Amino acid sequence: MIRLDKYLADMGIGTRQEVKRRIRQGKVTVDGTVVRSPEYKVDEECTVCCDGGRVCYEAFEYYMLNKPAGVVSATEDRTEKTVIDLIGGQRRKDLFPAGRLDKDTEGLLLITNDGALAHRLLSPKKHVDKMYYVRVKGAVTEEDVHAMAEGINIGSSALEEWTKPAVLDIISSGRESAVRLTIQEGKYHQVKRMFLARGKEVTYLKRERMGALALDESLQPGEYRRLTEEELKDLYETDRHA
Ligand code: URA
Repeated sequence: MIRLDKYLADMGIGTRQEVKRRIRQGKVTVDGTVVRSPEYKVDEECTVCCDGGRVCYEAFEYYMLNKPAGVVSATEDRTEKTVIDLIGGQRRKDLFPAGRLDKDTEGLLLITNDGALAHRLLSPKKHVDKMYYVRVKGAVTEEDVHAMAEGINIGSSALEEWTKPAVLDIISSGRESAVRLTIQEGKYHQVKRMFLARGKEVTYLKRERMGALALDESLQPGEYRRLTEEELKDLYETDRHA
């Protein structure tokens, strides 16, 4: 059971103060009866309406976002647009991105308020695959494939920082190359630093997969949708098997 004002605020109807005001103004009903006390206790079985519209309670929400370049992976930022700003409509107010993509990186980002799931998907100990499509200046070679499979020092000779083995698949190699790189960690700028350590500059980076969750290619950059039941189930399975 939770307080009526918290129920409405959690579901993004307004701030705690705003929803209290609306409750006191008689704009909120519970199971068809106007309730004017914000501390009134409700649960998920109750039919709660605000201004005549039903407000269903969801403890957890899960969205797949195709992150566009130019927005930051944060919940709020004083100057930059964030990935959370892209999630419109009525939604929980405690959403956050499960992991970070650089400002110029595109692709799959899970937006949720399920901290336990996010933690397990991101923990390096869980070995969850993250697959990236990468375009790189210059030719990518079999030597790069082997080096990535061994693990790469993305630190310096003075202060080494080794990545775990990664799988590099060459799609095309030439003046500009296209590859897929699968890693199981999420070190700062990891993919870019892995290629830099091989003397190559990443010109485009897009995450296509995280564990069982694949980017829905029908989502244009900036578009999002809720995860399907199936995707959520598979994600929990990834998590259990990791
Ligand atoms: N590796 C990077 O370098 N950047 C990202 O955004 C994700 C992985």
